[in-house]
Amino acid sequence: DQQLGIYLGGKAPEITTDLAGLEEHARQVLSPEALGYIVPSAGSGATARANRAAFDRYRIVPRMLRGVARERDLSCEILGTRMPAPLMVAPMGVQKLAHPEGELATVRAAAALGVPYVHSTAATHSFEEVAQAGGDAPRWYQLYWPTSEQVCLSFLARAKAAGFSALVLTLDTGLLGWRPADLDRAFLPFLNGVGLANYLTDPNFEGVDNPVLHWAQMFPNPGLSWDDLPFLRRHWDGPIVLKGIVSREDAVLAAEYGMDGVIVSNHGGRQVDGGIAALDALPGIADLVGDRLTVLFDSGVRNGADAVKALALGARAVLIGRPVLYGLALGGQAGVDHVLRCLLGELDITLALSGHSDAHDLRGLVSVASSTVG
Ligand code: FNR
Repeated sequence: DQQLGIYLGGKAPEITTDLAGLEEHARQVLSPEALGYIVPSAGSGATARANRAAFDRYRIVPRMLRGVARERDLSCEILGTRMPAPLMVAPMGVQKLAHPEGELATVRAAAALGVPYVHSTAATHSFEEVAQAGGDAPRWYQLYWPTSEQVCLSFLARAKAAGFSALVLTLDTGLLGWRPADLDRAFLPFLNGVGLANYLTDPNFEGVDNPVLHWAQMFPNPGLSWDDLPFLRRHWDGPIVLKGIVSREDAVLAAEYGMDGVIVSNHGGRQVDGGIAALDALPGIADLVGDRLTVLFDSGVRNGADAVKALALGARAVLIGRPVLYGLALGGQAGVDHVLRCLLGELDITLALSGHSDAHDLRGLVSVASSTVG
């Protein structure tokens, strides 16, 4: 009905409703440095292209005459978090690069819609600021595990105190990927004055001479191993989700090590060039561990139909990456609001047109297209 409202009102939105076309618009407003950090991917960009190609290879097979409700309810509960639809905002750092209000604009837009927001360790607003802006709305915390145990424990404690209910541990970024667009400009936002608020406001950083150097010493942490996970369990009272899982073996290990969920993700192709498309990894992982773990998904979702494909291939919810930052760049809080509403709207319409009134039991809704398509 909201959709009809747009037609009836005859007033075109300020930002396009074609979310796949948002990147082009965002390119017009981002500085070259910001664009170089946000838009491109690792190496030749093969993984990011594979992410998109995988979405094109799958096709939705809609069902008819299924008595779809006029008022539909896509709400669900994931790891104790209620959400209006199986959609969340992916953790993304340095959002001030996209807009001066950064994470505060994003969390406000997400909170107004009840869409869960995942706060990055590399954010430019602190846990406490984000919590204040988000009010009672659902939020999770994404940890980049620092080499300093003291800082790690401080982050966990601050996140807990600020009402972040679940912990996402990102595993695919023990080091930054080979990112030519940043390397060619010698630009890394963390080093170039975009403040890393969680670190800079941490008591462990008080009085430190050169906080950027201090950060640079504790961020790369490729030495983590599975046996480190019990430490997190001891110090985090709540669900723990591993982000960056694309191998079935790792998904099984996640279950064996007592994790609550995994996010099937290749970081939007920003880490390993030539990596498997996240969507191609999803069905095998969901089949193998879907009964033991909450399987979530990101990397390459650009619109509501993509989200439906990921849900139909076994994800319980889908995280939205770059499109949120494009909305942020184009319109701050209103831009993120627009992007999330478009996603929620298109997700709902695609499911309804496919014969569904809710977001449950979506398995088997997609098939792999023949090689002549896409
Ligand atoms: C990210 N991503 C990310 N992931 C994470 O766990 N912690 C982080 O701080 C960041 N930071 C970040 C910054 C920027 C600019 C981007 C584009 C991405 C990865 C993010 O959570 C998600 O996995 C990808 O964005 C999904 O891919 P798409 O949808 O953007 O292609």
